[in-house]
Amino acid sequence: MSLILQQRVSLKSCNSFGVEARAAWFARVQSVTDLQQLHADPRVRDLPRLVLGAGTNVLFAGDFDGLVIQAALPGVQELEPSADSFLVRVGAGQSWPALVEQLVRAGRPGLENLALIPGWAGAAPIQNIGAYGLELAERLHSVSVWEAASGACRELACEECGLGYRDSVFKRDRPGERIVVAITLRLPQRWQPITKYAELERELAARGCGQPEASDIFEAVCALRRRKLPDPARLGNAGSFFKNPVIGRSQYAELIERFPSMVSYPLAGGRFKIGAAWLIEACQLRGVTRGRVGTYEGQALVLVNKNAASGREVLDLAREVQQRVQSKFGVSLEPEVLIVGA
Ligand code: EPU
Repeated sequence: MSLILQQRVSLKSCNSFGVEARAAWFARVQSVTDLQQLHADPRVRDLPRLVLGAGTNVLFAGDFDGLVIQAALPGVQELEPSADSFLVRVGAGQSWPALVEQLVRAGRPGLENLALIPGWAGAAPIQNIGAYGLELAERLHSVSVWEAASGACRELACEECGLGYRDSVFKRDRPGERIVVAITLRLPQRWQPITKYAELERELAARGCGQPEASDIFEAVCALRRRKLPDPARLGNAGSFFKNPVIGRSQYAELIERFPSMVSYPLAGGRFKIGAAWLIEACQLRGVTRGRVGTYEGQALVLVNKNAASGREVLDLAREVQQRVQSKFGVSLEPEVLIVGA
């Protein structure tokens, strides 16, 4: 009996912004049996559901009047390899940064560019987490989900997950109806370093790593992230608050003419990804303080809880940032973070 179901629970320790909010009901599940038991419970069966991992990519702008399920299923297990990959099945509740480190040290490289991304493994496919030139999509074999409709588990191949830039079918299609219980990673048997990301390339060069091993990339990415991103244990935040916007060719041409220093990267199909941090900074919004919240001095894309702020205050700042960027550049910033209870 591992299922814990409680009423009126504070979510403060379950979100990296560290804001106060309440869940009408809260359950921490550690097995599929727990999920089935929860699903059969008349007190919560018909309530709206919110699935949480470590709460590192969510902003509670208010209370959640439903059932919060923390998917804490444990376990890391290596399966029979496929022709070209090592396959590792990981429970949704496993810490992502600990997993990456464990695999690199155990001679199973492939995730090192995704080092130190906070959160649990089960959330990785929801956002298709990505950093320093690698997205989860390139290392994901399949996702095991529990479905409310059938009350049973199903295995989705990576191709069925609709993974895109910080996006997946789990995010778009009936969130709360499908709960990730485990993911299976596919790690290359013939590993090649991924060093095309300019900032990472520079860091490796500065460390004198001409032909980097996976552990060199791991260390370099950890150093970059520690330098650039605030530690949520000290300053509440959820990493990048907004996605980097993607715009078409004509809007790009017009903007780059007016703002030649704008940070941008060409994408396939003639579209361009614009650095959201650059846009925000150009609006003089890097390192600003609004009461108890602000934008991080070292990285304008990160909104921070400076001192026991409410989620509402963070949301107000997010809206100010969106409005300023919209009116200066005509570009809309889409939150990357899930906003709950607004
Ligand atoms: N870019 C490239 N190639 C490069 C360098 C940058 O394509 O060589 C692109 C990036 O993909 C990004 C833009 O240029 O779209 C700006 O890059 P920057 O390095 O300034 O990163 P960022 O926008 O601050 C993004 C992610 C971070 C991730 C870093 C490092 C988003 C919203 N944020 O941040 O992810 O760690 O790149 O790769 O995409 C997060 O999602 O919470 C997060 C911290």
